Amino acid sequence: MLRSLIALLLTVTFTSFVSAQEATPPTSDRSATGGAQTLEDILARQRGEQVESTARDPATLGDGAPSSGQLGTLGGVSDAEMWSKVRHDTANITASNNGPAATVLVQDRGMWWLTFREGPLLTYGLYLLGGTIILLAVFLLIRGRIRIDGARTGRTIERFKAIERFGHWLLAGSFILLGITGLVSLAGRKYLIPTFGHESFAVLATWSKWIHNNVSWAFMIALVMIFVMWVIHNLPDRTDIKWILKGGGIFGGGHPPAKKFNAGQKLIFWSVIVLGTSISVSGLSLLFPFEMPMFAVTFEKLNAFGIPQALGLGELRTALAPHEEMQYAQLWHAIVSFVLMAIIIAHIYIGSVGMEGAFDAMGSGEVEEQWAREHHSLWVEEVREREGVPRRGQGSQPAE
Ligand code: HEM
Repeated sequence: MLRSLIALLLTVTFTSFVSAQEATPPTSDRSATGGAQTLEDILARQRGEQVESTARDPATLGDGAPSSGQLGTLGGVSDAEMWSKVRHDTANITASNNGPAATVLVQDRGMWWLTFREGPLLTYGLYLLGGTIILLAVFLLIRGRIRIDGARTGRTIERFKAIERFGHWLLAGSFILLGITGLVSLAGRKYLIPTFGHESFAVLATWSKWIHNNVSWAFMIALVMIFVMWVIHNLPDRTDIKWILKGGGIFGGGHPPAKKFNAGQKLIFWSVIVLGTSISVSGLSLLFPFEMPMFAVTFEKLNAFGIPQALGLGELRTALAPHEEMQYAQLWHAIVSFVLMAIIIAHIYIGSVGMEGAFDAMGSGEVEEQWAREHHSLWVEEVREREGVPRRGQGSQPAE
């Protein structure tokens, strides 16, 4: 009797356990998805609940296309091998005629680029600009404005012709616009959207992009103009060594002799030309996506010279996806732009508040002769000689 009772109890318990296991979990209404899982199903699974899973069963899904051949549509089935190939860019993908980038479906270095762009690039870039402004303010406090030391003569001397000033202001105006609109694009998501909201930023970003893309041509034209007009005056010579050794006379002791451009200005000129060209080329590759890949070839050359290895970086990867080329172009474009912006902030300072009499050179084109003698003594002698006026100390001085 007792045995029969135990057997009955065991049977009842086991049967109810099995039926609990086999009970079909509640199913949400799947009519809207044609039988596939719904958002409720996914959320329920995330909560740890059992969800009816026939929709995920490979046997009931797929369009019958073989998973080992060309990519067929397999419904919700996850084909590990296929995704692995897609992930590593080795899948045999037939793209419509949309360019080389169309065949890359997954490019996971994108996250590294995104976080670097929003993180260190933006942060250190802004520190660089802010730090430059602070240093200049400190310099102004310590040194004060660089004044014209001697008495003004009342005479002026032509420093830049109208075409030179046009080239300079085209370059300056376009660079400032490009700098501001570039910063809007870079810092927008992090700083401007939280402050002004999505709607206002969308308008600002649209305009910024339009200005940035189109004004870039003015910058490139101006860059060529100033190169052609001024390169002859910016070739290094012996006077530069003396000028540098005397620190440009910046902390007193008299300004060392200089021709049309002193060593400091030559440095600015070549920075503008070299960095400006680099910004222009990387900008063009951003303007025409995937048309001008240049980083893989550059990395190959650097590897061949052993430069990254010497810096402890190891060999740089040279098999870059087209998107990666674009990401490197964007980073390079922004990094070099930050460096040039910092240099130009210093240039704007010295060409305006930092030095008495300097702005006239790019304003009217005429500078006070005393200013010219103090900062560019050799150039003044050259100009006066061309005009038939003997050098100082040779023959009679012009009537003053
Ligand atoms: C509002 C801003 C600017 C002011 C007030 C300014 C002022 C000046 C002045 C006064 C000169 C002539 C210096 C001399 O007589 O020797 C000059 C030259 C020059 N500027 Fe500017 N500039 C400005 C913006 C820019 C920008 C944005 C660039 C380039 C992106 C630039 C590039 C140059 C170059 C390459 C020279 C010749 C080399 C030199 O004098 O350093 N300038 N600028």
